Amino acid sequence: MPRIAITREVSENVHSCELTHLAREKIDYERAAAQHREYKACLVELGCQLLSLPGAPELPDCVFVEDIAVVLDEVAIITRPGAASRRPETPALQRALEPFRQLLFVREPGLLDGGDVLVVGHDIYVGRSTRTNAPGIAQLIHLLESFPYNVRDVDFHSCLHLKSAVTAIGERTLLIQEDWVSRDAFDGVELIAVDPAEPHGGNALRIGETVVYPTGFDRTRARMEAHGFEVRTVAQSELAKAEGGVTCGSLVFDSDAATISKARGAT
Ligand code: GLY
Repeated sequence: MPRIAITREVSENVHSCELTHLAREKIDYERAAAQHREYKACLVELGCQLLSLPGAPELPDCVFVEDIAVVLDEVAIITRPGAASRRPETPALQRALEPFRQLLFVREPGLLDGGDVLVVGHDIYVGRSTRTNAPGIAQLIHLLESFPYNVRDVDFHSCLHLKSAVTAIGERTLLIQEDWVSRDAFDGVELIAVDPAEPHGGNALRIGETVVYPTGFDRTRARMEAHGFEVRTVAQSELAKAEGGVTCGSLVFDSDAATISKARGAT
């Protein structure tokens, strides 16, 4: 089945992004945009067809499309992001996803960021965070009632999203930062811990059999490679200052070729 990656351009005002756990540092917009181009080229080399949406100066965090939707095989959930500044990001993603999936919506008072939603086969782990609240999790469970998923909530701390701490790198293998989320939350999966010297190394993006991973976490990369994973690194230094990781910059899912072609032609 063909695979599509929906992305969005970096806002020229990315320096005004939301920050929760990091101190504000100068973000070089040109470099951030160049690194995002490299990231998109990597997705294309790995077989994704790209649907790249325009950025928006008034939406500093708009490059982080992952937070705006949770795309499953059967359905997509349009989130209600925890940061009010990010809620106007949803209409563009809603329009982009309409051709591909039936859409369901998280409503007030629910809050849910896609970065808090980790899908591992039919198990969905949802992090309780500053961005995702109990009504948001309850709504996700309710919206998915008639679909074959087992949704459970997970506590974590010290980082923005659940997927800052733990991500799927294989069918049943997770990369985990155990100082921020307990391994006990994840039954029946293989866990590879980040190297203790690389606490921010828990965010990786699985595309087929390849793991897309930020440069600068050589020890953790070596751990994944020692377990047989093929790792492809991309520079992420600028968007990392905006608390972004490699999962944040895309929504990757399968779709038939005709729908992809029509949607790409329409943008
Ligand atoms: N800067 C990414 C976020 O806070 O959502």
